Amino acid sequence: MADVKTIGVLTSGGDAPGMNAAIRAVVRAAIKNGMKVKGVMRGYNGLLHNDFVDLDMRDVSDIINRGGTILYTARCKEFSTEEGVRRAAENCKAAGIEGLVVIGGDGSFRGARDLTNLGGINCVGLPGTIDNDISCTDYTIGYDTAMNTAMEMVDKLRDTAQSHDRCTVVEVMGRHAGYIALNAGIAVGASYIVVPEKKLDMEALISKIKAAHAMGKQHFIVVVAEGVAMEVEGGSNWIAKEIETATGIETRATILGHVQRGGNPTVTDRVAATTMGHHAVELLKEGIGNRVVGQRAGKVVDFDINEALQMKKSLPMDLYAIADDVSF
Ligand code: F6P
Repeated sequence: MADVKTIGVLTSGGDAPGMNAAIRAVVRAAIKNGMKVKGVMRGYNGLLHNDFVDLDMRDVSDIINRGGTILYTARCKEFSTEEGVRRAAENCKAAGIEGLVVIGGDGSFRGARDLTNLGGINCVGLPGTIDNDISCTDYTIGYDTAMNTAMEMVDKLRDTAQSHDRCTVVEVMGRHAGYIALNAGIAVGASYIVVPEKKLDMEALISKIKAAHAMGKQHFIVVVAEGVAMEVEGGSNWIAKEIETATGIETRATILGHVQRGGNPTVTDRVAATTMGHHAVELLKEGIGNRVVGQRAGKVVDFDINEALQMKKSLPMDLYAIADDVSF
């Protein structure tokens, strides 16, 4: 058994609800296994600038329920150079950090891979992003909370759309992926869902709304993934304008934005963060690095980082078809 004495933990990229639950699990599991834990502040920046904090059992009390990340997070350009990676590795060694848990997305995992291979620090990645766009895992920490937040926000928009007989176009996050849009769209009973995985067909969208309008429907919800909005000039506002012009139904666009990244994590996120965080420590304890932890069919699994980065996953279009079938 590897005699690992100290590990580090950092959060990197966009924050996601459940990151704190993951930090807590890492700290508690490591201490249980006789290891010490150092928190690295502001992602890879903390490695480059020796910004470390000792984390004890009680330092992670009362954070399982909190959104955001107590370690702060950042996207760090400096770390993406070979010089940066080597300096980060030297700083880790000087601080006694022998293994590192990196909570973030694909970009963060590339850093973890480089730190393992170039710097000799065993790193294990935990998927933390609201987008659910990490291929090796069915689930990413933060996704469920973000979907629920989006659903709650659209429920509120429905009230005003219904009162005014309007169409509400809601843009949700997800970067280049349509997971949040598809599931939140189904959960709010959207008339139409626009995802990056399917070419935008304004004609189909408009004829669906017109047909439903002709059958007596008075208000409409259209969910648009940001991955589509960022590709069309004028984004969601343009989509709203087109709908209004073509149908005569007053239409408003709302971009939900960063509200989707905040809030207390749901049960699903807290449990996923805890089980995956625990697993990451099990790997590092054995001196195993260069892995990404994920969830497949409800089970915690891990993969080589390079293999994980090359995997592909696709939006379940059968689910998209169901959404389409039940929206009038
Ligand atoms: O990856 C999470 C995410 O919220 C995406 O959905 C979105 O495209 C992006 O981050 C926004 O990033 P920023 O916080 O830099 O505005």
